Amino acid sequence: MSRKFFVCGNWKMNGDKASLGELMKTLNSAKVDPSVEVVCGSPAVYLDFVRSTLDAKFGVAAQNCYKVAKGAFTGEISPAMIKDCGAHWVILGHSERRHVFGESDELIGKKTAHVLENGLRVVACVGEKLEEREAGITEKVVFAQTKFFADNVKDWSKVVLAYEPVWAIGTGRTAPPQQAQEVHEKLREWLRANVSEAVGDSVRIIYGGSVTGGTCKELGGQKDIDGFLVGGASLKPEFIDIINAKQ
Ligand code: 13P
Repeated sequence: MSRKFFVCGNWKMNGDKASLGELMKTLNSAKVDPSVEVVCGSPAVYLDFVRSTLDAKFGVAAQNCYKVAKGAFTGEISPAMIKDCGAHWVILGHSERRHVFGESDELIGKKTAHVLENGLRVVACVGEKLEEREAGITEKVVFAQTKFFADNVKDWSKVVLAYEPVWAIGTGRTAPPQQAQEVHEKLREWLRANVSEAVGDSVRIIYGGSVTGGTCKELGGQKDIDGFLVGGASLKPEFIDIINAKQ
């Protein structure tokens, strides 16, 4: 089964109109592999600007949202607002949302259901902390996180699963390709056993954590790695090399 390679930049809380504008100019004029689906995760305040600046062949993602449509939730944004800005994706369950802002699996699950009900797509993030890997419970942790997503997903064609080991994020310590492949394969097996064979075969599972122009090719060559979620390098022209990792 062929899964379309998916590369999502996550700009996190970085950039301004000037620097993101430059970056988008570079992306718009770059030669990118047309068989790759590319999405840029913009800070919420720039969604409108990003959607109107970025070439239409690139998708736009919000980096988070709330679990309900509207109301007295100061500081939050809804999927309807994201859609209104022309973006079609939301990153949910990112390790920084979990570990810096204390988001629970339950909350992430509710957000997932609400985002999908509103016709947006989800980049669903899972990943173990260093102490969890060292304790030998990586699979247990990522399976439990995936279950909270799975309980809230009806149509998996609208979801990309992102495996981001927390110890690899922003550390320059990319997971060794075979080690990442092992987790991706286990996640696919979990989906086959707990959702369906078809979903296990078709869902794209992307890797995130210090992906660079230098590390992307070997990672992208692994059987169950269907793309990347890229932080730091997505703010640089190097992002183009990562998009083209399969060429
Ligand atoms: P880095 O690529 O900067 O390690 O960030 C990964 C990440 O968290 C993407 O969501």
